[in-house]
Amino acid sequence: MTTMTLPDGPSAPRFVQGATALTAPLWNIRRLHRRYGPTFTVDVPIFGKAVVISDPADVRQLFMTSPEIADNLDVNLGRVLGPNSFFAITGDRHKKQRKLLTPPFHGRRVRAYEAIVEQEAVREMATWPQGRAFPTLAPMMRITLNAILRAVFGADGADLAELRQLIPAMVTLGARLAVLPIPRTDLGRWSPWGRALAYRRQYDEIVDRLIEAARQDPRLDGRDDVLALMLQSKYDDGSPMTRDEIADQLLTLLTAGHETTATTLAWAVERLRRHPEMLRRLVAEADAGGSELREATILEVQRTRPVVDRTARQVHAPSMELGRWTLPKGQIVMVSIYLMHNNAKLFPDPGAFDPDRFAGKRPDTYEWIPFGGGVRRCIGAAFASMEMNVVLRTLLRDVTLAPTGDRGERWHSRGITWAPAKGGLAVISRRSERTDLVAPKTTARSRG
Ligand code: HEM
Repeated sequence: MTTMTLPDGPSAPRFVQGATALTAPLWNIRRLHRRYGPTFTVDVPIFGKAVVISDPADVRQLFMTSPEIADNLDVNLGRVLGPNSFFAITGDRHKKQRKLLTPPFHGRRVRAYEAIVEQEAVREMATWPQGRAFPTLAPMMRITLNAILRAVFGADGADLAELRQLIPAMVTLGARLAVLPIPRTDLGRWSPWGRALAYRRQYDEIVDRLIEAARQDPRLDGRDDVLALMLQSKYDDGSPMTRDEIADQLLTLLTAGHETTATTLAWAVERLRRHPEMLRRLVAEADAGGSELREATILEVQRTRPVVDRTARQVHAPSMELGRWTLPKGQIVMVSIYLMHNNAKLFPDPGAFDPDRFAGKRPDTYEWIPFGGGVRRCIGAAFASMEMNVVLRTLLRDVTLAPTGDRGERWHSRGITWAPAKGGLAVISRRSERTDLVAPKTTARSRG
């Protein structure tokens, strides 16, 4: 039966629902799920009435829907990352950009970046203190930021050192601004939006220098970094990517590509310290040169601790059929990754951390959805999976992670991602001193 009304949901005023969603988002979504089932409508500030879905059939249908019918939600991320960012473009423009930028992030291709990731992990882990607790989130961020910077620009040097300082500040501010309404008036250079513009100007200057240097590089066509590929790629009509497209997309890749991965790795540390038997098996596997259980562990970390707990689409067509509902143009639909991953029919005993459930198996792409799905599925998924695998392998090989009987760390919202509240505390001892894989100091201009 088709009905034009939205799914049921709480009737509390918008600001009350907004306050609950803001102060206790996961508790709230579990509560609404218990009360209304997998599909319900919330009414919250900024988004207004939004339909939340988590039924696998509905989610599959939404992810498979053509972008003419439902596409990206225009959140402030576009404003923060630029009008040519993946997060700001829709329809045909999005399709063309995906076509150009998919090859460097293809599964086979990302293997070329494994050595970079390992070098960065070895270098960082060599500085970790022994025998006392420290949060792994910041070190993991340094590994993933350095890795993505080198994969994207191919070279190292003063400009990258400047980006290494700038990007984390931009990301932290951007994540906060992305969930705030855009001010109608200019609030000045000391306002958060003013600061974001100043960061952007600094970023543009660095990227212009890097683009110029790459254009002058006589060996450009032999390079496999993303910037080199962007500069040489052509749309179907033979035209190249514009300077603004390149700058916005590079920023998008740097931003989307490091915090998510680092946060998942910090959760991996947090989970494994609380599962000593699994940790022991993983060390034994790594020592024997295997990877199956480690890959399954990463899948299970992403299932139980999805760092992005939802993704969204907006109806662009005059109306859209979804399950038994007909949604009007403009309707926002949120896919709850969190609820999907906690569905006991799909993942028995969903609260348990049990990597064996994925051992030797590929998860269903419409049920295990930490990277979203459809034409908007995370373009960096293969890169992130390779990176997490290499960092975890290096960690298991080079350091001994001390188990703990402490309670699991709470989920802490960092704006867009959910991180372990204590930053994924680790206590380690070094298994052996390694010097062979330590990369040269980052000031040297060396090809990645
Ligand atoms: C564990 C790490 C990561 C997680 C959990 C993650 C998660 C996500 C999610 C949930 C989306 C939205 C998908 C949708 O709406 O269906 C997304 C989009 C995106 N991600 Fe990731 N991501 C990760 C790593 C990366 C990396 C390493 C890169 C870049 C190298 C990246 C670049 C992007 C881009 C550009 C988009 C937008 C794609 C588009 O709109 O076409 N992400 N990611």
